[in-house]
Amino acid sequence: MAYRCTNNLTRADATPRGLFLNRRQIMAGAGALGLGGLARPVGAQEALEPNSYEEITTYNNYYEFGTGKADPAKNAEALDTTDWQVTVDGLVDNPGTYPLAELIGGLAVEDRIYRLRCVEAWSMVVPWQGIELKDILDRAGVQSNARYVAFETAVQPENMPGVRRGVLDFPYVEGLRLDEAMHPLTIMATGLYDEPMPKQNGAPIRLVVPWKYGFKSIKSIVRISLVEEEPVTTWNSLAPSEYGFYANVNPTVDHPRWSQATERRIGGGLFSSRQDTLMYNGYDEVASLYEGMDLKAQF
Ligand code: MTE
Repeated sequence: MAYRCTNNLTRADATPRGLFLNRRQIMAGAGALGLGGLARPVGAQEALEPNSYEEITTYNNYYEFGTGKADPAKNAEALDTTDWQVTVDGLVDNPGTYPLAELIGGLAVEDRIYRLRCVEAWSMVVPWQGIELKDILDRAGVQSNARYVAFETAVQPENMPGVRRGVLDFPYVEGLRLDEAMHPLTIMATGLYDEPMPKQNGAPIRLVVPWKYGFKSIKSIVRISLVEEEPVTTWNSLAPSEYGFYANVNPTVDHPRWSQATERRIGGGLFSSRQDTLMYNGYDEVASLYEGMDLKAQF
């Protein structure tokens, strides 16, 4: 398959063409509802190549398998993904523990070429395959009092050296506000480069939220809970002054210990210059989710 190399994926890239055209027609009349943004190309269109499969699968953060960038590729083979089940609970009409095939069976798998911007100020471009989280949540039947979605990673101490050493307080947990979770850019990825999700990247299913720092994109998910209150999240609870709940990519809000204005593109070569970091990682279409919020205070 040929991957389109654009700075940002557009709905045209992500949606079968017929459906896209249909959406465009719908969008033509949808401006008054504030939905017009979905169908237009977003962000600058500077050409960008996806990183190589090798780069994407050998430079990782997955602390359950160690804190070094090369540790997950070395150690994650031990992750046991057989008979994977995901519990969906909390404020849903259809709670339960579902085999993965049942959780996502019949839902549309889409190609999404997304930038991934880590809070550590490096970035990649990854060609994911995945399902819009919204489709999974719609099937679960979100109840009207739900305001947030909480996620949890598997804990397999026998297979995870980082868990045995207690490098973080496991399970790794993350969360989104419900409107962020329902946004069409938010996917549950099950593969990359048309291969099943490599274990070091979060097999068999992980979250990808491209406008947020990478730590929000939690791997190897075993629980999705619809809740009323903002859930506890791993990095925020560890260092609240350094890692916010929202964690939107924002070049104007520095990490207390380093600038977020620029980033190092992985695979750019030793002498490549740093590139400017873009607000929302270039996904401007999410800006309306944060209207009226002080993004310096709620970073
Ligand atoms: N999920 C879990 N369970 N454990 C982790 O350590 N690291 C996060 C995120 N998801 C992490 C995780 C961070 S900091 C980043 S930048 C991305 O995964 C990295 O994803 P990648 O290795 O696929 O590039």
